[in-house]
Amino acid sequence: MDALVAELVDAQDLKSCLPKGEYGFDSRLGHYLIHLLKPATLRVLWFNAEMAHPFTITIHMVSSLDGIIAKKDNSVSWFETSDYYEKGIDEQDVWEFLKTVDCYVMGALTYEHALELSTSYGWAYGDTPTIVVTHRDLAVIRPSIEIYSGDLVTLVNERLKSKYKNVWLVGGAILAKEFIRLKLADEIRLSVLPIILGEGTLFFDQLGYEQTLHLKDVTAYKSGMVEMYYEIKK
Ligand SMILES: NC(=O)c1ccc[n+]([C@@H]2O[C@H](COP(=O)([O-])OP(=O)(O)OC[C@H]3O[C@@H](n4cnc5c(N)ncnc54)[C@H](OP(=O)(O)O)[C@@H]3O)[C@@H](O)[C@H]2O)c1
Repeated sequence: MDALVAELVDAQDLKSCLPKGEYGFDSRLGHYLIHLLKPATLRVLWFNAEMAHPFTITIHMVSSLDGIIAKKDNSVSWFETSDYYEKGIDEQDVWEFLKTVDCYVMGALTYEHALELSTSYGWAYGDTPTIVVTHRDLAVIRPSIEIYSGDLVTLVNERLKSKYKNVWLVGGAILAKEFIRLKLADEIRLSVLPIILGEGTLFFDQLGYEQTLHLKDVTAYKSGMVEMYYEIKK
């Protein structure tokens, strides 16, 4: 953080550049996680959290150009882009940024996939509290994981708001859309990779109504990934 350069974008948005760094690994899971999480690396959200938004739920998703977030076979090699965009910026130190996320929320299917990957690569979300939304009695593999089966409005208003400031909903599409429909999500960070997958799980198939957004920022990376950062208008 010593090379932090903050630039005032607007009254509620401070954009910062973190020092360049290595991710510490280059495994397939590493790429998966980086792609899941790196779009935040260019912003220091705790500024927003502390100064403007005392509580924020951000939906973070990585998709192909055709809007797909998961292949039918659930393979994740498509996260490893081989593209190079000359004018793009380098990816930054994701781990430094991840310290600012104080709670993850995910759907049951995303959890099951994360569990599957964890047998080979370890648990992706560290010790940060992670709430899994499900109707089922799913296995809990770490003390930081909590299973939640109730109403989502109650989850946010009575459980999350009192304890956390920077909550990331890390998928999948089913749960993200529920949060949008219920007006529980504040922001979307969508990272589009330079690939057309052709089939799989769509992020937005049918939301069922029109939702206006405010584009807060766009960032293009050397990897060819483009991150779009939106505020969800309420
Ligand atoms: N590209 C990316 O950035 C990204 C990010 C995350 C995940 N993914 C991928 O996306 C896929 C999963 O996404 P998905 O959209 O199919 O599923 P999902 O949103 O991860 O999970 C949906 C499931 O969560 C449970 N659930 C959802 N809302 C609930 C509620 N209100 N109350 C109780 N339970 C609720 C239900 O499971 P039960 O009824 O069985 O409990 C539901 O079937 C995986 O392949 C994953 O790897 C990709």
